[in-house]
Amino acid sequence: MSVGSAVALLIKHASLSTAVLVGLYASFIGLLTLDSFQTHVIYLHKIQMTWFKDLNTPEIFGFLHNQVTPFGIPSPSGNAVFAWHILPIELYRKNEVALLAESSGYTQDIRTRHAFKLLREDPDAILAIHMHGAAGTVGSGYRVPNYRALSAGDPNKIHVLTFDYRGFGRSKGTPTEEGVRQDAVAVVQWALEVAEIPPERIIIFGQSMGTAVNLAVAEDFALQSPSIVFAGHVLVAPFVDAATLMATYQIAGTIPLLGPIANIPPLFSYLKRYLVHKWSSKDRIAAYIHANEASGAPYRITIIHAEDDYDVPWTHSQELFWHAVNATKPNGVSRVELEHAGLDEKHDLGPAGTVTKWATETGIVREEILKTGLHDVIMGNQVVTLAVMRILDSR
Ligand SMILES: *[C@@H]1O[C@H](CO)[C@@H](O)[C@H](O)[C@H]1NC(C)=O
Repeated sequence: MSVGSAVALLIKHASLSTAVLVGLYASFIGLLTLDSFQTHVIYLHKIQMTWFKDLNTPEIFGFLHNQVTPFGIPSPSGNAVFAWHILPIELYRKNEVALLAESSGYTQDIRTRHAFKLLREDPDAILAIHMHGAAGTVGSGYRVPNYRALSAGDPNKIHVLTFDYRGFGRSKGTPTEEGVRQDAVAVVQWALEVAEIPPERIIIFGQSMGTAVNLAVAEDFALQSPSIVFAGHVLVAPFVDAATLMATYQIAGTIPLLGPIANIPPLFSYLKRYLVHKWSSKDRIAAYIHANEASGAPYRITIIHAEDDYDVPWTHSQELFWHAVNATKPNGVSRVELEHAGLDEKHDLGPAGTVTKWATETGIVREEILKTGLHDVIMGNQVVTLAVMRILDSR
């Protein structure tokens, strides 16, 4: 074969594989307009990551014996939401003998458990309710160090309640925006009514997709009458809304998922019409702040993001922060005003990143942009601990 024909063959193959790739991509985009496929792409709930581990044996995820109580919380779906109640370490140590004497594993009636009584009967107990991101379960990845970071601020007082949305782990069903929101509301309702923790002793934490759930819950309770406002909300690696997230999402930080399409606005708006799961955090954070500014209910929001997060670009936090700030004033706050006039505090912490704070007479919105921390390692960072401590201090 001559060099010339070899090159011709190569070019033919190259264009063939390009055509195959373009074809595959087009079918992927086509599939995205199908509800069930989209559900899997957005929630990744079948990617459990804890496949061969039993969530009813929390010890294998790095907990002490009976430090965690696995149980179910009733949800409007008719299925139970699978949850873990995690005791803080010093409280565990003080009650070790009583806790070790109890039975282990899934608990049919958590109200009979010593750990639960330690939560309900302590008038100073704090409950951090945890809302995890897409994929995995309560036991996967950096979620366990995350629970420790949440309770580290007071190892006597800060309990953690974490759960799997429907379709995740042991919680039956299929996730939808409304269904996931309902499950989260049911968990918070359980904390208020069964564990009898008042809202001023509840902090809600969310990471990634969990931040969207967190804000849905914040809005839901703030708009109830009478309104219920929790001590504070911590959002790690949030996003503006699902459509903007998909436009900026890069698989493994390199392959843009919808980037090629996002660059063709008419095509992107066409695709957006098929997006069933909208998760508009920018609208929810604004509605939550409007409601609290109107009623005078104190509110605390901390937004945390790492610059090297390659799943959700940190600029989502910058944008969400502005939407929050804009909602604090009846006439809004322009981006220019935010940069130059109104800021309460702005600190450059060098290798630790920057902290920006916006305060009104009613509420505080903080934005902490770390230099490093990726998308999930950041969950175990002490900034999470400090965010909880600051919220508790300011009550
Ligand atoms: C900013 O706030 C003002 C006043 O509430 C509102 O009219 C405007 O739509 C907000 N801007 C955005 C982009 O949401």
